[in-house]
Amino acid sequence: MKKGYVLITGGNKGIGLELARIFAKNNYPLILVGTDILALYEARNAIKKTYKVPVCLIQRDLTKRNAVDEVYKIITDREIQVDILVNNAGFGTYGPFIETNLEKELDLIELNIRAVTHMTKLFSKDMAKRRHGRILNISSTSAFQGGPYMAVYFASKAYILHFTEAIHNEFKPYGLRVTALCPGPTDTNFTDCAKGSGKARIFQSMLSSKRVATAGYNALMKNKLFKVVGIKNNILRQLNRLLPREAAINIAQYCLLKEK
Ligand SMILES: NC(=O)c1ccc[n+]([C@@H]2O[C@H](COP(=O)([O-])OP(=O)(O)OC[C@H]3O[C@@H](n4cnc5c(N)ncnc54)[C@H](OP(=O)(O)O)[C@@H]3O)[C@@H](O)[C@H]2O)c1
Repeated sequence: MKKGYVLITGGNKGIGLELARIFAKNNYPLILVGTDILALYEARNAIKKTYKVPVCLIQRDLTKRNAVDEVYKIITDREIQVDILVNNAGFGTYGPFIETNLEKELDLIELNIRAVTHMTKLFSKDMAKRRHGRILNISSTSAFQGGPYMAVYFASKAYILHFTEAIHNEFKPYGLRVTALCPGPTDTNFTDCAKGSGKARIFQSMLSSKRVATAGYNALMKNKLFKVVGIKNNILRQLNRLLPREAAINIAQYCLLKEK
């Protein structure tokens, strides 16, 4: 049977690009969305060097109000069927909330929360009609507790996790599968965007984006509710469940501070 497309937001860099490679290896045709057109072309060239799958590119800034509708229109006008949606695009900010840039944080909410919700709404309706489809939402270990100095980012990832958990159950009768991937610190461009975060204790030890993407792909294929990647991150998550919330936030704060 011919496979439908995999649509990956932020499929041109980091975890999204590694996911694109894995889907290509498994013969899925791809649609990659991002703002950086050069990185989109580079991603397509890199994938097509090794794999013989169609790779469509859509340049859109998903913080913009109409962008999700435009992406959806381009895809439906071309009569492309999306079987798998990966809501991966996202970024963070770093620093005391009193001092961080409001516009950037509002854009973060637009991308990490609104665009994820909007994409899921549009594509899940079509998947439900076909009674077939999967959605992988990239959350984070940030989702499990508040994160001092990354307050808005951590909260946005909690939204993604709770949203995903809810629709994982809701979508079962429609035959749709939904998984949240919760990576811990991962070696990508993330810390360049969340300026200053690269020096925080938490980012001194990172997993590779390939390892994280592989875990995400496998979790989606096994219809897991969520997946935390890596032993250390899993221990921290279990510890979080046992500790009072105040203690969990204190640990997060320690990890998010820079070494003196
Ligand atoms: N790295 C970590 O430590 C870590 C940990 C947990 C979760 N995550 C999550 O993993 C996901 C991927 O991040 P990453 O670590 O791979 O970082 P990354 O290398 O910076 O990749 C971010 C991706 O998002 C895209 N993107 C950013 N802003 C966008 C916008 N306005 N419109 C459309 N696309 C946009 C970027 O494409 P363009 O540059 O072309 O815009 C890029 O492909 C994010 O949701 C992040 O929160 C990361």
